[in-house]
Amino acid sequence: MNRFALAAVGLATTFAQPVSADDVKVGLLLPFSGVYASLGNDIEAGFRLGLEEFGADSGATFEVISEDTEVKPPVALAKAKKLILQDQVDVMAGIVSSGVLGALRDVVHAAEVPLIVANAGNDDATGKACSPWITRLSFSNQQVNRPMGSWLHEQGVQKVFTLAPDYAAGHQMIDGFVQGFTDAGGEIVGQEYTPFRKTQDFGPYLAKAKASGADAVYVFYAGGEAISFVKQYDSFGLKADLPLYGAGFLTSPLYVNAEGPAAVGIVAALHYVPTIDSDVNRAFVSAFEEKTGRIPSEYAVHGYDTARAVAEAVKAGAMDRASLGNALRQVSFEGPRGQLSIDPATNNLIQPIYVYETVAADDGLTQKVLAQLPASADPANGCMLSAVVN
Ligand code: PHB
Repeated sequence: MNRFALAAVGLATTFAQPVSADDVKVGLLLPFSGVYASLGNDIEAGFRLGLEEFGADSGATFEVISEDTEVKPPVALAKAKKLILQDQVDVMAGIVSSGVLGALRDVVHAAEVPLIVANAGNDDATGKACSPWITRLSFSNQQVNRPMGSWLHEQGVQKVFTLAPDYAAGHQMIDGFVQGFTDAGGEIVGQEYTPFRKTQDFGPYLAKAKASGADAVYVFYAGGEAISFVKQYDSFGLKADLPLYGAGFLTSPLYVNAEGPAAVGIVAALHYVPTIDSDVNRAFVSAFEEKTGRIPSEYAVHGYDTARAVAEAVKAGAMDRASLGNALRQVSFEGPRGQLSIDPATNNLIQPIYVYETVAADDGLTQKVLAQLPASADPANGCMLSAVVN
């Protein structure tokens, strides 16, 4: 037994553990209100579908308790404490915002409760602030953007202006892109960060982008902010002269129809699009569509794969916090995105990145895959998980 397992078993006796031998309590911490509410709902829909499909085969029954983080770190912190101390959940999953994940990290680590990150890309959570209790089944902010930086330069783009909301994810997504782009020889001619959750008028920022001499604009926006940004970019008349690129959340299938024609032609990078050509993905898309009436987004996939990971860990014999924590980092399966595995050095998911263009089809907007960029592990950045866990 290693240092981490010993510590985990020690504390497991302090907290009362599962309600009954075949009952696993899962706490879902997601935004069901605020700027990322639709993301939270899609993750939960994917999670419930995944539990329906894979839960029974695990031999356990599951109780799911959902809490609304409102995308606010103090609210999320209070809800996490409730799930840990009052509800005595065996495992927590969710977290959409990098800011919220950063705020929760120490509480999760100290309480020794496994947390599966089902969205937030905060690089530090699987880097310098990693924890054996935190496993990510979504993506990291740099993972999505760094390869897009070099790809964009290969397409002949030399000068870029960047824009993103002013919080952890905005900075890390742009930093990842800038690293890939400048390493390849590109130049950043200007950068702006817009007040998160407060910016309604992007006009002043778009004026700066236009005056910057850039060949293209690269952004990260998601949820309600993505919808406003894409529409304003188009109505500002910039799209023709200054092509818009970004992290693929910008034109997520979850809200691309709300963006409408303004989204057509935007090229972006992401770890999942519903048009991935595989049997596993086709089966997932049709099951999700049948259940919800909509095409699954990357958010739905995070929830679905998270449920599968919990079910696989339980099937492998894990039932309480300590054993779930250990088993989750070892799951590996083929999901809608392809073959998934967890980097033992950081607990981050390793996966390919897809460059896609939003195009108009007969029945609405769809995602045309232009390139598949190879899966690569993030730098561990001081995280030494492989030294402390088996
Ligand atoms: C994040 O805050 O990490 C975040 C939020 C929404 C996204 C992607 C990342 O779509």
